[in-house]
Amino acid sequence: MDDCARFGLALSAAAAVGLVNAVLALRWALHFREGFGWDGGPAQFNWHPVLMVTGFVSLQGMAIIVYRLPWTWNWSKLTMKFIHAGLNLLAFIFAVISLVAVFDFHNTAAIPNMYSLHSWVGLAAVILYCLQLVLGLGMYLIPITPVSWRAMFMPLHVYSGLFIFASVIATALMGITEKLIFGLKDPKYKDSPPEAIFVNFLGVLMVVFGALILWIATRKSWKRPSDQILHSLHTDRGGEANTIISPTLSQLSDRVDAEARGDIRKRSSTSGDLDPDN
Ligand code: HEM
Repeated sequence: MDDCARFGLALSAAAAVGLVNAVLALRWALHFREGFGWDGGPAQFNWHPVLMVTGFVSLQGMAIIVYRLPWTWNWSKLTMKFIHAGLNLLAFIFAVISLVAVFDFHNTAAIPNMYSLHSWVGLAAVILYCLQLVLGLGMYLIPITPVSWRAMFMPLHVYSGLFIFASVIATALMGITEKLIFGLKDPKYKDSPPEAIFVNFLGVLMVVFGALILWIATRKSWKRPSDQILHSLHTDRGGEANTIISPTLSQLSDRVDAEARGDIRKRSSTSGDLDPDN
């Protein structure tokens, strides 16, 4: 199987699993639980898992790999940045509504807030995600940020994006386990009723989704071509990299600024299209 077919397979699997996860979370709420409402009761709680799985897991995962889609490689980098930022913003909005639902549910039922490991790691992930979003917008969408800063912070942006995504999946797994322990009374979770099997399956699929997204995001040969060149300059040349990158970046800064203004609509396949701000 060639590299292109392998990419197609991984992408189709990730998209399918991400969609199935959202559908399963919805079915859990509608079929096994109380459905949806906004009255401070269990039906309001159900927004929490459904919006987290749909938005904060599936949508965030797709936002991470959006630059890898080959049919977008002739779109301008600015358009891709708007799509990446837009999907991440949408995922963040889902997460915030989902948090309002669970805090409101707890307050109505006089359940203490923020006592569990799930809630600690989860809130930390949401705060870091918000920081990542603000820094990402400031750094890569506002054209005044110096090109050298953009290039310098890119490895940190990539690492923290992947780290937050993995933490969110771990948080979701803790959350579904807690809910099954709290919610299943007769029969209990340990008796493996159909709801427990169903939701365990959702948990396994979330791990599979995470594995696929991290795989796609970390394959160097699947990066947008201009990003591959920059990645090689950063990693393959060791100490030599700084000497090479600096003049390259300054030569490119005019071009990148022009692109940020939306002047460049088409990318060519030459190295002259090299873009330092991912
Ligand atoms: C994936 C991202 C998720 C994040 C960031 C997250 C975050 C949070 C936070 C911050 C709280 C505390 C609310 C409070 O103390 O009032 C909470 C509560 C809760 N969440 Fe999640 N959650 C996520 C996913 C899920 C999922 C998928 C479930 C599955 C049902 C779930 C189940 C729960 C439960 C049962 C509580 C109440 C008990 C507790 O505070 O631990 N969560 N979540």
